[in-house]
Amino acid sequence: MSPVVETPLEKAHELLKSGDVVAIPTETVYGLAAAVDQKTGIEKIFKIKGRPFFDPLIVHVCSKQMAARYTTDWSPMADFLAEHFWPGPLTLVLPKSELVDPMITSGLETVALRMPRQSQTLSLIEKLNIALAAPSANRFGRTSPTTAEHVRAEFPEDDLHVIDGGPCEVGLESTVLSVRRVDNKYQLAILRAGAVTRTLLEKTMRNRPFEVEFLDSVSSKESPGNMKHHYMPEIPLIFVKKKSLTTPEILNKVKAKIHQLPDQVEGVKIRRPAKLEVLKELRLPEDPVLAARELYQKLRDLSNEGADLFFFRQLEFHQKEEWQAVMDRLTKASSIHLE
Ligand code: TXA
Ligand code: MG
Repeated sequence: MSPVVETPLEKAHELLKSGDVVAIPTETVYGLAAAVDQKTGIEKIFKIKGRPFFDPLIVHVCSKQMAARYTTDWSPMADFLAEHFWPGPLTLVLPKSELVDPMITSGLETVALRMPRQSQTLSLIEKLNIALAAPSANRFGRTSPTTAEHVRAEFPEDDLHVIDGGPCEVGLESTVLSVRRVDNKYQLAILRAGAVTRTLLEKTMRNRPFEVEFLDSVSSKESPGNMKHHYMPEIPLIFVKKKSLTTPEILNKVKAKIHQLPDQVEGVKIRRPAKLEVLKELRLPEDPVLAARELYQKLRDLSNEGADLFFFRQLEFHQKEEWQAVMDRLTKASSIHLE
């Protein structure tokens, strides 16, 4: 008789139940997950990622009913948004219930909840019947992973169990939306741009009986993950705002600024080039959906292709709302901005 072979999902289930971590695919990026009731697993996430404890994790559920367990206010608005956008790239920040350990929320009274659109991960959560806390499966401050290979490259020395779900369909992290109920009105604020834009949210709520106010910003205390630098590739990326600059002009300007090139930004190491000869351009498709899907792969490829540094040229159409999430990631991934 041939031995019984455990499937990757069965193995993942066992690991998560015993307080270990597993890398999971989602439609946005891969996550590094632990069951929300396993404190050792949650601690391990922060340790492996090198993530500061002040930056809270997203809690992944497999249904609206499961989401309602982890908040004290599953409001008509939360239900409406979940009905419309779940499973999908929208994270709702709501008042947390006592089932959520303060380590997951970094001591905040709110919890970020999302139902991912990925069948293996949804089955896993369903089988566990416990939500999974998971940040993106990259080392702190680095480019997020959109394939199982990227996750393995991020944590080469860790014996990490990765569920391979193929390349991520969306390719950029979810929109993080704070939902606050004040009397019978709602205050909404986008804390992180993603595939679900404000226009899309507003369109969905048109002719609905909600009184809604969109806030343009919230206090930094309410959005601790909003750092200036993030998603950074191994070699310096230059963000060029002035579209009329030619490539030699860009090279000259960078040479003049080379002394400003740091070898680390907010604790994240950047490979400072010994010479400035090979300058490559990051080019993205003109369709923002495709650009989002390819962005992180391209940041990795360019870092590995022997360039000294690379640049991205922002064009007029990149200022449209559907490009906001891609521009946000590129701005934060860049070490130098040229105007
Ligand atoms: O698409 C995604 O959201 C991916 C996949 C794996 O689901 N996850 C992800 O997690 O991007 P992470 O940890 O890289 O980013 C979570 C963001 C951080 O900016 C964090 O500060 C914010 O969500 N966040 C989490 N809980 C929050 C809360 N209670 N209040 C405000 N922001 C919160
Ligand atoms: Mg992240």
